[in-house]
Amino acid sequence: MMRIVLLGPPGAGKGTQARVLARRLRLSHISTGDLLRQNVSAGTDFGLEAKSYMEKGVLVPDTLVNKMLSRRFDEPDIKSGFILDGYPRNLNQARALEEILKTKGSGIDLVFYLNTSEGVIIQRLTGRRVCKGCGANFHATNMPPKVEGVCDNCGGALYQRTDDVAETIKNRLEVYAKESAPLINYYEASGKLKRLEADGEAGVVLEEMVRLIKFS
Ligand code: AP5
Repeated sequence: MMRIVLLGPPGAGKGTQARVLARRLRLSHISTGDLLRQNVSAGTDFGLEAKSYMEKGVLVPDTLVNKMLSRRFDEPDIKSGFILDGYPRNLNQARALEEILKTKGSGIDLVFYLNTSEGVIIQRLTGRRVCKGCGANFHATNMPPKVEGVCDNCGGALYQRTDDVAETIKNRLEVYAKESAPLINYYEASGKLKRLEADGEAGVVLEEMVRLIKFS
């Protein structure tokens, strides 16, 4: 049983890797981005509040995200371990996570930092396609679906995220550098951080993660 956090800039491959790794290790995949997008689509109070922040590419307020995550952690599957993708996003959230886990008598075991260069990020985000049905990620050229516009897993329609446009990507990268990058040192100091070079092929990055988990 493992409790893993994935850190890295937008487009590092957090969602792509978390999905596969979670299946392989039988862990729950918790993506705050996916949870927020589900709330936006369903028109919940969380979604209505989060939408304008997400469209601008800035962080949704901590109070909202922490509350949403805390509720997710009340679900029973969490007990078998999880991979957090997109949370924490700043030091305040990292401390909130510790508090939430402390109430459950646990803590984070491992943090992967997916180091990715800017050119690769832009190419990945501008070509990303997401399934409306199951949320799986594809890429127009890097990881194309077998049939254009159709999800290989569930047959759902693929769409382009509204924040995957040049201006918003620029904002997201600035927010990442200012708010999220300090988490690298924070987790390094705790001795839980493992760095990975994530510009390479997805399968290679995945196997390196599996290897590091085995030796952790
Ligand atoms: P979120 O959904 O978390 O977006 P993000 O962090 O910007 O990360 P991405 O989903 O863009 O990238 P990823 O690393 O998952 O890459 P992916 O695997 O898809 O957040 C969106 C918004 O929600 C935020 O801006 C904020 O407003 C809000 N939010 C979310 N969490 C929050 C929080 N905790 N606090 C406050 N606000 C929050 O890969 C990208 C593409 O590359 C895909 O097309 C994929 O197919 C391709 N690809 C992946 N890996 C490879 C590879 N190795 N080789 C080739 N192609 C690859």
